[in-house]
Amino acid sequence: MKIKKVGVVGFTGVMGAGIVQLCAQSGYQVVGFSRSPERTKKAMTLIEKHLGRLVEKEKISAAEKSAVLSRISATNTFAGFVNCDLVIESVVEDMELKKELFSELDRVCRPDAILATNTSSLSIIDLAMATRRPNQVLGLHFFNPAPLMPLLEVVKTIATSDDTLATGKAFGESLDKTIIVARDAPGYIVNTLLIPYLLNAIRMLERGQAGRDDIDTAIKAGLNYPMGPLQVADYIGLDALLFIANIMYEESKEPQYAAPPLLKKMVTAGWLGRKSGKGFYEYH
Ligand code: CAA
Repeated sequence: MKIKKVGVVGFTGVMGAGIVQLCAQSGYQVVGFSRSPERTKKAMTLIEKHLGRLVEKEKISAAEKSAVLSRISATNTFAGFVNCDLVIESVVEDMELKKELFSELDRVCRPDAILATNTSSLSIIDLAMATRRPNQVLGLHFFNPAPLMPLLEVVKTIATSDDTLATGKAFGESLDKTIIVARDAPGYIVNTLLIPYLLNAIRMLERGQAGRDDIDTAIKAGLNYPMGPLQVADYIGLDALLFIANIMYEESKEPQYAAPPLLKKMVTAGWLGRKSGKGFYEYH
């Protein structure tokens, strides 16, 4: 199937807004779902701001910016997805909520539409089984910020059909992403490697082996990574990091995925990283 129109659930989250922007920049008509008009307005303002920066940097023209924005529409009911060929879910990592969404999407969307999830840790076959089309469900795991990060993990469950996988890969290529195919297991490829690394950096800070800035500088200057691990943790969101670590620990029982107490305390204190204004760093 050729994808023409894309729906995004969770459009007002950091990842969802990035996915909407990316799809619209790649020429797709995009419908973003949110129940809150205020949050929709905030997400659109953020997308406009990012596109505005691209115009200032002469990466796109003002006319392209307008064309991208004209391809984005918002809906506050799932009926807005009736003409979509693909719907990507990108809401908080809550299995029950996601199952409900998948079951509702299944009722509303065309029978040939593909349903995808951006989850980084939850079992995709569980979501697929909340629908009557498990063969048309797959994972499309983007990285933050979605318009800039080159990788897309395309995740195949044991029920995903070859056609669905091929369509998912072709869609990813049309977004100019580098595609890897991963199995439906918590963490796929990137997070299986990334999460222990981030948790180790937090443990290092916690036991006083090194300070925040030295840990991040070591990785940036010693390995040429664009951000240090504590900056990346703040960027992902400490609540999301804790959630992913907990799921991966539950699944594997491997100590490398056990969340350090400092991470739990910061989440309890509401220090969630960039999005809350405070994490390992402060953001104004
Ligand atoms: N559209 C366009 N531009 C955007 C954007 C968007 N949606 N979001 C951010 N940007 C731009 C900002 O406008 C800013 O540019 P300006 O300063 O010109 O305004 C720039 O990104 C950020 O500033 P930098 O100086 O850091 O820019 P850079 O070009 O050097 O690099 C980066 C940006 C690509 C984010 C780079 O810092 C990087 O690669 N960081 C690592 C990010 C990372 O590790 N992400 C993965 C997290 S893990 C995950 O997402 C998945 C999971 O499951 C946990």
